[in-house]
Amino acid sequence: MPWRRTADPYQIWISEIMLQQTRVDTVIPYYKRFVEKFPTLNDLAEADEQILLKQWEGLGYYSRARNLQAGVKEVAENYGGIVPNNRKEISSLKGVGPYTAGAVLSIAYGIPEHAVDGNVMRVLSRILMIEEDIAKPKTRKVFEEAVTEIISHEDPSSFNQGLMELGALICTPTSPKCLLCPVREHCAAFHEGKQHELPIKTKA
Ligand code: ADE
Repeated sequence: MPWRRTADPYQIWISEIMLQQTRVDTVIPYYKRFVEKFPTLNDLAEADEQILLKQWEGLGYYSRARNLQAGVKEVAENYGGIVPNNRKEISSLKGVGPYTAGAVLSIAYGIPEHAVDGNVMRVLSRILMIEEDIAKPKTRKVFEEAVTEIISHEDPSSFNQGLMELGALICTPTSPKCLLCPVREHCAAFHEGKQHELPIKTKA
C-alpha cells in the first residue's frame, strides 16, 4: 500500500479520507494520481475546486474532497502549513473526525492514539470478546478506551494499521479467515468458537 511508504501527515490524511468509504484496491490508483497532482499541502490548498473534483471522479462522496480541501486550507492559514500533532487541534479541522485524527496522529506522528472505525471495532470485539452493541453510538468509546490501554507505544502506527489490515483482509464480517490469522492464539472469540457471533450489532 503506497501510503505505507510515507510519513507525511498530509499524504496520510488523504489516504485515510479516501479509505473511509472505499476499498483499498480501489483507492490505490486514486491515491497515487492525487499525490502526484497535489504533492504538498499547499498545492491542494491552492487547487481549483473543479480540478480537485475531477481527480476525485469515481471515488464518490464528493463532500469528502471538499472537506479535505477546507481542512487543508485551515492548516495552511492557521498552522503555517504543518498538520497539528495533537488530537484537540487536528480534530478541529473540517472533515477530521475521531478516526481520521487518530489515524494521522499514530501513522504520521507515531503518537499512541486510538483510531477506531467499524472494522477495528469488529476485530477487537472478537479478540477481546467485547459484547457491546456496535450499532450504538456510545459503544465506540468502549473500543477507544480498550485501544488506549493496549496500543503499542513502540510502534503505534503498525499497531493501528495492523488492526485495520486484519479487518480488511482476515477478520472479515462473514467467514473470518481464522486459520490464516496471525493473532488467533490471542483471540478470545476464536478460543471459544464464537468468532461468528461477534460483533454484536442490533440494527441493520
Ligand atoms: N484502512 C484504512 N486505513 C488503512 C490503512 N492505513 N491501512 C490499511 N487499511 C486501512
